[in-house]
Amino acid sequence: MDLTQLPHYQQRINDFLSQQLSNIPVNDQRLHQAMEYGLLLGGKRVRPFLVYAVGEMLSAPLSQLDHGAGSVEAIHAYSLIHDDLPAMDNDDLRRGQPTCHIQFDHATAILAGDALQTFAFELLADAPLPATDKIKLIQLLARSSGYQGMCGGQALDIAATDNQVDLAHLQQIHHYKTGALIHAAVEIGAIIGQANDLELKLLRQFSAAIGLAFQVQDDILDVIGDTKTLGKPQGSDIELNKSTYPALLGLKQAQSKAQQLIDDALHALDALPYNSQQLKDFSRYIITRNR
Ligand code: IPE
Ligand code: IPE
Ligand code: MG
Ligand code: MG
Ligand code: MG
Repeated sequence: MDLTQLPHYQQRINDFLSQQLSNIPVNDQRLHQAMEYGLLLGGKRVRPFLVYAVGEMLSAPLSQLDHGAGSVEAIHAYSLIHDDLPAMDNDDLRRGQPTCHIQFDHATAILAGDALQTFAFELLADAPLPATDKIKLIQLLARSSGYQGMCGGQALDIAATDNQVDLAHLQQIHHYKTGALIHAAVEIGAIIGQANDLELKLLRQFSAAIGLAFQVQDDILDVIGDTKTLGKPQGSDIELNKSTYPALLGLKQAQSKAQQLIDDALHALDALPYNSQQLKDFSRYIITRNR
């Protein structure tokens, strides 16, 4: 497996986000620091990778992809800050450091999440793209993050905690809470790269498969990972009695489900008339990663 572009894209998005955040006038130092803390300190940058890799596959220049890549990562960072709050998963470690509400305080963590959310849309509105494309991107990211996307999924996740759900329901939870933003990343790259309808359809099949696989692997790592490598507490799902794939199916079957989803993703990529090697390598990485 050869994910040569991953470190380049990570470096690029880190530089871009750091530059963009430093451009904001600092009114409240503490809030600004909490936003930097949540957005800049670590993270695999999987969603920016997808924006860049899909966009570049379709011949979009990287300079047109930065704002889209940054926007989905800002939403993701906000979702993690809120996900860790005591009212949700109540975790104290994230990306190898104290979670935002522990490093700062609860109010600051809530506000940092809120401010990162609006920052995401500001980035899209400021993108060096035609207005019609920017409206499409804003609509897509709004849907994928809100009631019909990540937030809706988080609500289903909370409702399913301490409750038995069937496989179809669990798949729906994962599809919304995690799949929606992965889907948004792929589609942002596709919109900026001017994908045609058939390409969009195949890329949606790809993103649906890897989006679900990503959360199944996240669930698996809660069981078999270690806290130091993960940078977040191993066993958190078990302790909270969360509905997860290993909890419902057992570890072996969860792993074969993840493999099956990656096979589906590779199949969709095979039908694309482009060199999709980076995306194929990335698909395999999703289920072989240990953090
Ligand atoms: C963790 O996401 C939360 C999920 C949606 C599964 P990532 O595994 O992408 O977390 P970072 O950004 O690398 O920390
Ligand atoms: C989080 O799922 C999905 C989000 C929308 C943040 P998890 O609760 O499993 O993510 P981790 O394991 O805390 O990173
Ligand atoms: Mg959660
Ligand atoms: Mg969590
Ligand atoms: Mg998890």
